[in-house]
Parts: sequence; structure tokens; C-alpha cells
Amino acid sequence: MTWNARALDVLAAGAPTPLIDFPLPGSGIRLLLKNESAHPTGSLRHRHARALFRQAVLDGSVTEGTTVVEATGGNAAVAQAWFAQRLGLPYIAVMPGARSPARAGPVEALGGECRFVTPPLAIYDAARRIEGHFLDQFGRAVPHDLAEELFGQVRPDWVVAGAGTGATSATLGGWLRDQDTTRRGAVADPDDHGVTRQVSTADPDDQGAVRRVPMTDPDDHGATCRVAVADPDNSAYFPGWTLDTPDYATGMPSRIEGIGRPRVEPGFRPDLVDLVIPVPDAASVAAARQLREVTGLPVGASSGTALWAALELVERMRARGETGTVVSLLGDAAERHLATCHDDEWAAVKGLDVGQYTDELRRRTCV
Ligand SMILES: Cc1ncc(COP(=O)(O)O)c(C=O)c1O
Repeated sequence: MTWNARALDVLAAGAPTPLIDFPLPGSGIRLLLKNESAHPTGSLRHRHARALFRQAVLDGSVTEGTTVVEATGGNAAVAQAWFAQRLGLPYIAVMPGARSPARAGPVEALGGECRFVTPPLAIYDAARRIEGHFLDQFGRAVPHDLAEELFGQVRPDWVVAGAGTGATSATLGGWLRDQDTTRRGAVADPDDHGVTRQVSTADPDDQGAVRRVPMTDPDDHGATCRVAVADPDNSAYFPGWTLDTPDYATGMPSRIEGIGRPRVEPGFRPDLVDLVIPVPDAASVAAARQLREVTGLPVGASSGTALWAALELVERMRARGETGTVVSLLGDAAERHLATCHDDEWAAVKGLDVGQYTDELRRRTCV
């Protein structure tokens, strides 16, 4: 067996992650959490890492002995180090800021190397200068295998995810578009947000036209699933999508690890997203704490962002008399989150008034 063939074996899809029922009051609407913390490296980034390595092996950029490099301080580094170790490849993560044992520890335990760089934005240039293959999760946001797996388990009416690189929402929306040739542009129900987004089609003869896909029959569950992106404070995705401005930038970093970006990243595909819901950071944190109460998992704040948006969708469905299923992504869980979003002192230092959302959460859920 060649090295490449062995590598592709290592990079084959893993066991499906489970769905968890989230308790809701009333009947007719089901909320499911897709538990991405069940991956061997504890996060959705496991799928991104597998897809990036797979593409690099297939196109010949990574082969036996290639040093693999990424610019990231988060879950991506742990997932990539895990695959690099299994492939027998040297791995270097270029991380922002001062050396942090909490960040470096899990990567080094998998045989990877961490290099810390200041200012934080210099990580991309620093990674490019290292001899080897720069995976470049933002520049190369390749589709991963979540959609195929999820839609094999359940046919929901909505899937809610955050957006960091944009790969996850593009994967979900792309898979659905490929199933349904009538789905050509994003759908914005004017009642959904108070904003109607103008979507011009890709058809050059049809420029400026607004294309709408009709609402699904409320009794026809899962026939048309739609993709909602939950977007935290400071992120460019909500304003960029709403204003149909692909180069929108806020220039402000997100406080919610893994999602929300200061600019619309090239991997974000507004045409494959049906709705973007802005979520206040304090609401994300309140919802992450409630997720921990329900599942026992020390989830990251991004899972709370998705849950808050999913609960908003449930309210809107109820107001319209709809029934159906909503899936919300639980992106990761890790002990280190106990010292951030699950910690009152951390929230106070960040200026987040979490308590103001607790009653609303209790009302919307059975917790
Ligand atoms: C809830 C949730 N959605 C989505 C993502 C990833 O988004 P993307 O694929 O756009 O990087 C994350 C983080 O990795 C997440 O935690």
C-alpha cells in the first residue's frame, strides 16, 4: 500500500456524532443538538481538519514527510495535530499572542509544535513563511462531511450553525442546493427578521432579480431544510449578509471562540444561507450555561450562540403555527471553557450581563 493510500484510509469519515434531544415546552417542535464534541478531538474542527488534509493529499500538496502548518490558536490546531500524528507528519501551529500552556498543551501532547507570534494578526504571514504546506483553513474553506452525515440521520426543517471560516454553513447549504435544483438563492422571509435581503441570481440574463423559494408546507417536514447562521456581536456576517455586501468588515474581533469574524471570510457563502440571526454575546454565554445544565458538557460559547438562535426560530415557528424539527450545532466541549464562559468572573471582566437572558431562556425551554 502506498503512503497516499494509507493516508486516505486514515482520512476516511469517522463514526457519526450523536443527536441529543433538547427539552422544549409544548408539543409539535423538536430541538436536536448535533453533538460535535463527540469527535476524538472534541470539536467540529475535526471535520475541517480531515477535509483539509484529505484535499491536500489528493492534490499532492501533502505527501510522506511534508511539514504541515496552520495559523490558529483554537480547536483547529488540536484536530490537525491529531491527524498529523496519525499520518506521521510534522505539524506546526502558529498561535496568536504570548505563550499559553492551556493552548499549547493539547497540541504538544499530540506531537505538534506551537509557535507564538505577536501581534496576533501576524500569525498568517508567519505561517506562510514556514517551509511546508500551509493548510490555511480560512483561505481554503473546503466542504466537510457534516451535511451528508446529518441528513442521513434526520431531515430537519432548519439547521443552525455559527460561522467562522464559513465552511460549515457552506457545506450544509451546498448539500441542500445539490438536492434541490430550485434552490438558487438565499431565502429571506420578511417576517423572519424585519429585513428582506435582496438576492441577485447567478444567471447573467436575470440580473437584479429577487428569487424566493416559497415557504415549506408546515406539514411537509424536512422537504425543504433551511440553513440559519447564528452570529455573535462584532461579527461581519450578519451585516454583510443583510446588506448583501460580501466585503463587509467590522474590524472588531469576536469574543465567541471559533465563530464571528471581523470581516466576511472568502469561505462564507451568503447564497447558501437562508437566514443570519444576530445573537448578543451575553445571550450566547447564558445559553452555553444552560446547555451545560442539560447535557453535562462544558460546551464552548459558540454552542450557546447557535442554541439562542435556534430558540428564536422555534418561537417564530410557534407564532406561525408551524411544527417541525430544528437542529442546533453543539460545536465543542472542553474543561478549559469552565474558566471562560462558565465562569462569572470571566463574564464580569468581559462586561457581559448574562443574568438578563436567564429568565427568557427558562421561558423558552423546560430547564
Ligand atoms: C456552533 C458552531 N458552528 C460553526 C462552527 C464553525 O464554523 P465554520 O465552519 O464556519 O468555521 C463552530 C466552531 O468551530 C461552532 O462552534
